[in-house]
Amino acid sequence: MIETLHSLYKKKHNIFLKTQKQIIGIRHASRVAAKILNLLCKEVRPGITTKELDLMSLELHKMFSAVPAPLGYGQPPFPASICTSINDVICHGIPDNRPLVEGDIINVDVTSIVDGYYGDLSRTVVVKSCSEDAYRVIEASYNSLKAAINVCRPGAKLSQIGNEIQKVADSLGCSVVHQFVGHGIGCHFHEEPAIFHYANRPKVDILMQPGMTFTIEPMINLGLSEAVVDKKDQWTARTTDGSLSAQFEHTILITSTGHEILTLIDAKDAYEGVPDLFIDQKTH
Ligand code: MF3
Ligand code: CO
Ligand code: CO
Repeated sequence: MIETLHSLYKKKHNIFLKTQKQIIGIRHASRVAAKILNLLCKEVRPGITTKELDLMSLELHKMFSAVPAPLGYGQPPFPASICTSINDVICHGIPDNRPLVEGDIINVDVTSIVDGYYGDLSRTVVVKSCSEDAYRVIEASYNSLKAAINVCRPGAKLSQIGNEIQKVADSLGCSVVHQFVGHGIGCHFHEEPAIFHYANRPKVDILMQPGMTFTIEPMINLGLSEAVVDKKDQWTARTTDGSLSAQFEHTILITSTGHEILTLIDAKDAYEGVPDLFIDQKTH
């Protein structure tokens, strides 16, 4: 029965339902990525540069015997080990020498490869303090990700994810970016299916099945939803109206009864408490 579903999903949708062995590997890579992200987020403060965060990420990946997936990825090759997206940058921001200042909001996106398996997550944090508007767009992204995760279970439609995200974004007066999507992940960085973050009704609405692993990573803007990619570096995606953008991302596994968020750290490592991160960098 399971064998049949595995081959059916592969044949019909090019989706790889994962085996138990692969799940163990992806869970481990995801936890390593989560741990690295937490350690990086603790360093976010006025004065630090995203280049320094990138160097730390390289060190941390070495410490955990992991490889940062972004480095050298794509065309042109992504030049850093993490994405750091500040204020109006929606995603794929490249670490540089600009010191962070109080009031900035920054998304840090970590994808780690361990033993050939991939885990991918990101979080938006506040640099010391931020405006109410900034808080609102962060909240919209965070709450929409939580709402989307909550519908994930066997038999649920993939389109429910976007519908949940859209509802939360609308209720907070924010917009959902269409141009970038979540994705299958695990044995490769980006696998099928594409996960749409906006309200949608696809012709073929794929049903979630145990063993599916994918990311949900809503990019939410305060203003217009359009994104424009930097002509020079061909990576940095910004809002067209200069408005703020926020994003959170987790890697999700569909289990036989519901879902598991793979990119979570042990409670003893704390720091999953996102509201704390909005305000300040507590030690736990
Ligand atoms: N981690 C990003 C994602 O969530 C992808 C970054 S691609 C890169 O899918 F090349 F910019 F790193
Ligand atoms: Co991703
Ligand atoms: Co990511």
